[in-house]
Amino acid sequence: MNTMTQESLHNSRTIESIIEGVATSDGAGVELTRVLTGKLQRRLDPFLMLDAFGSDNPDDYIAGFPDHPHRGFETVTYMLSGLMRHRDSAGHEGLLGSGGVQWMTAGRGVIHSEIPEQKDGVMEGFQLWLNLPAQNKMTEPWYRDFPSEQIPEYVTADNTKVRVISGSSNGVSGAVTRQITEPIYLDVHIPAGVTFETAIPDTHNAFIYVYRGGVKVGDVQVDTRQMGILSNTETADSLRITATIEARFILVAGKPLNEPIVQYGPFVMNSQEEIHQTLDDFRSGRFA
Ligand code: CO
Repeated sequence: MNTMTQESLHNSRTIESIIEGVATSDGAGVELTRVLTGKLQRRLDPFLMLDAFGSDNPDDYIAGFPDHPHRGFETVTYMLSGLMRHRDSAGHEGLLGSGGVQWMTAGRGVIHSEIPEQKDGVMEGFQLWLNLPAQNKMTEPWYRDFPSEQIPEYVTADNTKVRVISGSSNGVSGAVTRQITEPIYLDVHIPAGVTFETAIPDTHNAFIYVYRGGVKVGDVQVDTRQMGILSNTETADSLRITATIEARFILVAGKPLNEPIVQYGPFVMNSQEEIHQTLDDFRSGRFA
């Protein structure tokens, strides 16, 4: 457990809009909810996608995500509950368990698989895609597993529990830091009626996704399975949020790249030419 220092904050962001996730199927038939879709990539730059998965029916997840490629960004998988095996063409392998995070930089290209290692029970979590700046899109692939006990946590005086996956919150630094986009990724559990506050730099685009219970930001209620996009208000320095009933949500924030975004499936580059080059590299076996 880490020692927190409550930041002195003055002005919370508000909710600009509420987004309902879209039910979809990906990989070898994994049922999931796409919360951050292509339409929001510009608004939520540098984040490209957020999928929420959660089921106690093995048919919804058992086949997982067999070998598939990525180039040009990072994938951050946060497992609330479950067990998933990762293997990739850069030689990395890891087993992601409950409460753990897998951070993968696809960079110039990896082929990887993500396969459940459980036959039953609940599998629940998130996969977030974080864009890379143009200058780093062709960087060497990188991969790291953070088991649950390596994710820094703190508990406030009124019992809000915060896990800091990336960035920092109330003086506690997360497991991963990144230059340029300076991502913040928190998992927050708030008891009913309690208010929690954390800093968000005014340079950042930010959103919350509620996965248990309900919260209020100002007068706006955000319920389970809803994303609340936070307004970019120049004078705001924080998020102040109250649980209307016991709630769990993730807070994701990052500094926009303001570069062209050209996505073709699992590849995200800055131009069509780069996408054509990527397809050529992939088909010619230059990813492995
Ligand atoms: Co993948």
